[in-house]
Amino acid sequence: MQIKDFFSKEGKEITCSGWVSNKRTGKGLVFIILRDGSGFAQCVVNEGEVEANIFSHANALTMESSIEVTGKIVEDERQVGGFELHVTNLKVISIAEEYPISKKAHGVDFLSDKRHLWLRSKRQWAIMRIRNQITFAIHNFFQKEGFIQMDAPLFTGNACEGTSDLFELEYFDQTAYLTQSGQLYGEAMAMAMGKIYTFGPTFRAEKSRTRRHLTEFWMIEPEMAFYDNEKNMDLIEAMMKSILKDVLNNCKVEFEIIERDVSKLENAIKEFPRLTYDEAVSVLKGETDVNGQNAITTLQNDQKEAEVRKEEISKEISEREEKIAGPGIKKGERNFNQNKVDILKNEVKDLEEDLRNIPQWIKSAEEFEYGNDFGGSDETVLTRLYDSPIMVYNWPHAIKAFYMKRDQDNPELAKGVDVLAPEGYGEIIGGGERETDMELLTEKIKEHELPMKEFEWYLDLRRYGSVPHAGFGVGLERLVTWICKIPHVRESIPFPRWYGRLFP
Ligand code: 4AD
Ligand code: MG
Repeated sequence: MQIKDFFSKEGKEITCSGWVSNKRTGKGLVFIILRDGSGFAQCVVNEGEVEANIFSHANALTMESSIEVTGKIVEDERQVGGFELHVTNLKVISIAEEYPISKKAHGVDFLSDKRHLWLRSKRQWAIMRIRNQITFAIHNFFQKEGFIQMDAPLFTGNACEGTSDLFELEYFDQTAYLTQSGQLYGEAMAMAMGKIYTFGPTFRAEKSRTRRHLTEFWMIEPEMAFYDNEKNMDLIEAMMKSILKDVLNNCKVEFEIIERDVSKLENAIKEFPRLTYDEAVSVLKGETDVNGQNAITTLQNDQKEAEVRKEEISKEISEREEKIAGPGIKKGERNFNQNKVDILKNEVKDLEEDLRNIPQWIKSAEEFEYGNDFGGSDETVLTRLYDSPIMVYNWPHAIKAFYMKRDQDNPELAKGVDVLAPEGYGEIIGGGERETDMELLTEKIKEHELPMKEFEWYLDLRRYGSVPHAGFGVGLERLVTWICKIPHVRESIPFPRWYGRLFP
């Protein structure tokens, strides 16, 4: 039986297999936190109620040992799932060696090296379950909307998103690339099926170690015939709201475990502000306020607040450290204070990072030059002002991909849209309407120095029954990262790949 189903068997004796995620002993008692993948449950082994050898087996269990336990399910509202198991029998399957991940704070490099084990931690477990729910919600949405899921190839001969970050490989006697995006194939598939979406891995040889960049990530790319960018944005908004509602309904326990403030996600389910690129630039530079908030002055205030808070915390740390060093302090009190100090020191680290970042963000925002793409920090500054995702559209065509539809009313602009997640997260979706004008399209292919011959098949889509069409690409890991409010995209995928990271 699985832990998630304990509630249905209250008072009954059941058997369940899993791993020891934690163990505590008291007088004549062993408390095991058992995890079986479906959940976590406390199992109580009482010396007076089991055979002597079972109690000693329980006592000898190490972290992550695997066991089979039998016992009675008892309601206990203090437990996470509301139930615990009073053990009557226990079989050891395998005693684990000393487990490398302990409760103490580990550095992220260490944890990344141990990713194959780190995945077992409660927090990672919760994030992976939310990722799973998001995936399911995406399929659910598109299937209900009548989209056909189709797969684009991973080996390609064409660059889709520019040539600078391609992974090149030998494909027998030809050169191939790992796909950066399935979009070009998505366009062909949409001309066959009307509305399609791909859901697959994509690759970018990004030599950057930012909190937003992976070299391998999963992308969902819908493509729709007879859509302009307006309809495209309507679809994005509907999809995002549907995903948010679905995870909020189905991942309550998981959000609690990762301490995600779900009211932030609930508040995001409203009309998404749509800003032209020009408007977004004006907000970023502090020339236009958003709901009475100004990009630049909010940052200046945040900086002041961080300074004050840092001062306060530093004082508290020294007071507590003095206490710890004081004579006659009891062990319990010392541990309590030490624990507080550790937490406060981590907060100081975060504040110090803010204090290093904020002045740079201010500078970058103030000096932003019209016509450029937004950098990571610009996106952070912009999206901190909103509580729902925002959609920035009508971009300078010069900084967008070759396939973007030029705006007939303003030829300097292209009908692209970027969706930026709130709370400082930034871009999670990129998309737009596709160019259908043969002349403009071939001009762009030349301008981007792409080999025309290899794009002939793509141009056929314009030769034979060309229609207005649009689509977008959702970065799954970026979406999970925002929804879970995790600091780095590497915790959003089971085995992340980023610049320099290939193992485990
Ligand atoms: O904005 P991008 O480059 O757009 C495209 O690839 C289009 N062809 C999509 C389309 O219209 N069908 O990438 C789309 C999204 C980004 O918004 C981001 O969420 C994610 O993919 N992404 C990355 N995620 C993690 N690591 C990276 N290196 C990423 N690069 C893009
Ligand atoms: Mg983009």
